[in-house]
Amino acid sequence: MQDKVLILDFGSQFTQLIARRVRELNIYSEIHPYNSKKFNVADFKAVILSGSPHSVRSESAPQPDLSEIKGKLPLLGVCYGAQYLAHFFGGEVGSSNTREYGRANLSFVAPSETLFEGISEGSQVWMSHSDTILSLPSNYKKIASTHDVENAAFRIEGEETYAIQFHPEVYHSTDGAQLLENFLVKIAKLKQEWTPDCFVDTTVNSLKEKIGNDKVVLGLSGGVDSTVAAILLDKAIGKNLHCIFVNNGLLRKNEFSSVLKQYEGMGLNVKGVDASARFLSELKGESDPEKKRKIIGRVFIEVFDDESKLIKNVKFLAQGTIYPDVIESVSVTGGPSATIKSHHNVGGLPDFMKLKIVEPLRMIFKDEVRRVGKSMGIDAELLGRHPFPGPGLAIRILGDITEEKVRILQEVDAIFINGLRKWNLYDDVWQAGAMLLPVNSVGVMGDERTYEKCVALRAVESVDGMTADWVDLPYKFLQETSNKIINNVKGVNRVVYDISSKPPATIEWE
Ligand code: XMP
Repeated sequence: MQDKVLILDFGSQFTQLIARRVRELNIYSEIHPYNSKKFNVADFKAVILSGSPHSVRSESAPQPDLSEIKGKLPLLGVCYGAQYLAHFFGGEVGSSNTREYGRANLSFVAPSETLFEGISEGSQVWMSHSDTILSLPSNYKKIASTHDVENAAFRIEGEETYAIQFHPEVYHSTDGAQLLENFLVKIAKLKQEWTPDCFVDTTVNSLKEKIGNDKVVLGLSGGVDSTVAAILLDKAIGKNLHCIFVNNGLLRKNEFSSVLKQYEGMGLNVKGVDASARFLSELKGESDPEKKRKIIGRVFIEVFDDESKLIKNVKFLAQGTIYPDVIESVSVTGGPSATIKSHHNVGGLPDFMKLKIVEPLRMIFKDEVRRVGKSMGIDAELLGRHPFPGPGLAIRILGDITEEKVRILQEVDAIFINGLRKWNLYDDVWQAGAMLLPVNSVGVMGDERTYEKCVALRAVESVDGMTADWVDLPYKFLQETSNKIINNVKGVNRVVYDISSKPPATIEWE
């Protein structure tokens, strides 16, 4: 069993970053709301207290029960966590006179502290707090200050309890990773054994144990998460994993056949179901984006249900759910609020939804999914694929959908995406695609006047799709792509490039 770190969350926007930084040290970490009853302290070797939008001085301040933690396990308080350790144990926290946001530089009071090994005097740290620690309890020892923050770091003598006012988890804290490593490895003595290979071994074993000889059904989408989940399950239960890959007729050009082949090449027990005609017929005449999404969602469930009924005695439904989808969040207005969605209403559920759920990736982040995929030998091209929306080209064809429009957009999209690959731009872009606009415009080809479709190309950079900016693609590339599209795709005589950021625009046009 690997060593684990408990991260008690008080609602900070940076809590997930703490977990990621810890895992980058090859140490497993879990986030739990500060007042959750769903974890057992005895399972953990060290604890980190997160920041919080709350003030320790407000009535609604989160007050964790640390009786099983403080003085018993190595403990690191970050920002609110540090203020909590000061304020509720005899120190004083008040509002600060100067702004304490952004860059600051460490000045060591106790430079020989293990917490600071390998970190130089003046190291840049990132602050984000409005309260400040005015005085420390008597058995506490100040170990670093900054220009504006007297008690920027301190420890409790006789305990392995440390606290820092700044955020080591953000990249702007230059030696943040070193500080976390010092705390976790040198002070708390945790082993750095949580590697992708180790994740694969433990996950495969626990899947074997959970599933036994039962059958599992899983919907493959061509995306990274469902693929990695499938390969893990395949390692655990082999042919008892039944994958279903549905063609909704709205995938990229040739994607259904090429991805299906790739899946078969990986040895997966996969069935490709071409339901394009059914999807396109149900979508006929519909132009409202939300209604299009609903139709696609409903038809997918019907198709998946029909297919899973054909597999006898299935007990489990596997999903590619990842950690950000399941972390319970602490609400800023009060106690922890569960954000976990529930599909369970009595009756009326498709048969496959009545199955037991298995989610091999539910404790790992997206970048970790990719690393796990890599360690299992999944093709780098598949792991590096841009995100693609579930409703596919349906939300990139503005207005109603016809087979002809799908064909036109698939051609345009293929020229654009292949061009990005050819120009080595694909990996610099987070997501790219083409939109078919519901307007015709006048053009001239040879001596003839044309009146044809306009397409918009979109390429964005982003981290999580929540915000995004358009990519400054080279003019030469845009020129070549536009020429290729207009010369090769019948029905298109105009190409534009979308230069809107999100917000205020969105990535997709519908
Ligand atoms: P927007 O357009 O909201 O897109 O800026 C953000 C990210 O979400 C994807 N997206 C969807 N994915 N079903 C999906 O599975 C949808 O209905 C959907 N709408 C948008 C989009 O491609 C981008 O990655």
